[in-house]
Amino acid sequence: YSPTSSTTVTGTLALSVFTAVLGSMEFGYNIGVINAPQKIIEKDYNATWMHRYNEPISEGTLTSLWSLSVAIFSIGGMLSSFCVGFVSEWLGRRKAMLINNLLAFIGGTLMGMSKLCRSFEMMILGRFIIGAYCGLASGLTPMYVGEIAPTSLRGALGTLHQLAIVTGILLAQILGLESLLGSDELWPVLMGFTIMPTVLQMSLLPFCPESPRFLYIIRCQEHHAKSGLRRLTGRQDVGDMLAEMKEEKRRMDMERKVSIPELFRSSLYRQPIIISILLQLSQQLSGINAIFYYSTSIFTKAGVQSPVYATVGAGVVNCAFTVVSLFLVERMGRRTLHMLGLAGMCICAIIMTIALALLETVPSMSYISMLAIFGFVAFFEIGPGPIPWFFCSRVVLSRSESLFDIFRLQDLCGPYVFLIFAALLLFFLIFTFFRVPETQGKTFDQIAANFHHNLGGTMDMDLDMDLDKPSTELDYLGDDSN
Ligand code: GLC
Repeated sequence: YSPTSSTTVTGTLALSVFTAVLGSMEFGYNIGVINAPQKIIEKDYNATWMHRYNEPISEGTLTSLWSLSVAIFSIGGMLSSFCVGFVSEWLGRRKAMLINNLLAFIGGTLMGMSKLCRSFEMMILGRFIIGAYCGLASGLTPMYVGEIAPTSLRGALGTLHQLAIVTGILLAQILGLESLLGSDELWPVLMGFTIMPTVLQMSLLPFCPESPRFLYIIRCQEHHAKSGLRRLTGRQDVGDMLAEMKEEKRRMDMERKVSIPELFRSSLYRQPIIISILLQLSQQLSGINAIFYYSTSIFTKAGVQSPVYATVGAGVVNCAFTVVSLFLVERMGRRTLHMLGLAGMCICAIIMTIALALLETVPSMSYISMLAIFGFVAFFEIGPGPIPWFFCSRVVLSRSESLFDIFRLQDLCGPYVFLIFAALLLFFLIFTFFRVPETQGKTFDQIAANFHHNLGGTMDMDLDMDLDKPSTELDYLGDDSN
């Protein structure tokens, strides 16, 4: 099947994917950037306080201000992610990405200028706005890439979103080293640097075609869709692809618009939504961000020498295994990879806990725990890192990592915190095994049909539908092994 089995990566396709994932890189950058320079920025918060009130800031206030600076990023992201669907239909994918850059611009400027203006409020507001940018970008990028990629490359190109995120994290970790930009004077540059990918993206987007799928299915502009397809594939005859979209449109036109409460009430939609949510939760509650926020202090506690460099090491492992996943995703099923990743993470979390508990008596355990952390990160990128993005392009969830910052879970539980993650990982593994269908070799449309078919036996009557019924949020599960 698959009329879109073209595997040629044309210049236009490469440029468009590259341009889109600059947004993902920006997202990663802002995940990683506040880790290293925390103490230095806190010092400036204190200096501002002294300047205003002639007394040093109290420990509690400083912790709250810092936690707020970190966590408000997620709040911005959560709020804006609700707008992804609306904005991407109203403006189109490309224009939405273009305009979203304004948020990054404003956010980056506020953070970069906050020291000069002696205002931690500016830093906090900047983090909120850049968070809003990231919430939109984390929905728009996978959506656009998924739509412009030929079916046969959708998996591999889709993982580029995650690859760009991890590159952004690594870049921030490296630039954040004290010898580079993570210093007293230069941290504002580190924060403002986030504007760079934005400027690049804004200048490249005009050369990228709008998603043909959007043009045809949402805007009914067959002519424009066709010329976009031609540019993206380098082929003159794109009739087969158009036919595929026509079929999808025909089905979508038969759909009724449903409200959010309805999504959960109707068993037709409930299952796919729950799967999307749980997959995204399996990413966010896996413990990965406890590593990315606390790695330096975890490595310190584990007795690792040069914990800062070990953190950069974790960033490198993170990148390397995203590349591994990129090659595996078209060979092994996504479900298989996701389960492999969850199982590996669960085992590493247990090893890490044991190693940390034995550290007092067996000093060489510090190496074991470092390796376990690297393994944990590696397994994350095999499955739970890249894969939920395929499922959830339309259901973009709030980011929960900052909960760790707010509740200081790690302080509460010491080395045993990873047992909580191990338990969660086991739960997600079992859920994936029983509930998530495999979707090798499917187009957008087939997935919806296949999904209902697979789960038909486990659901109630509503799902015994004929296949002309609505396609679902699982649209973005599509990949193709050919
Ligand atoms: C994913 C997660 C993000 C995490 C990153 C680590 O992109 O969404 O929270 O920090 O992977 O590589």
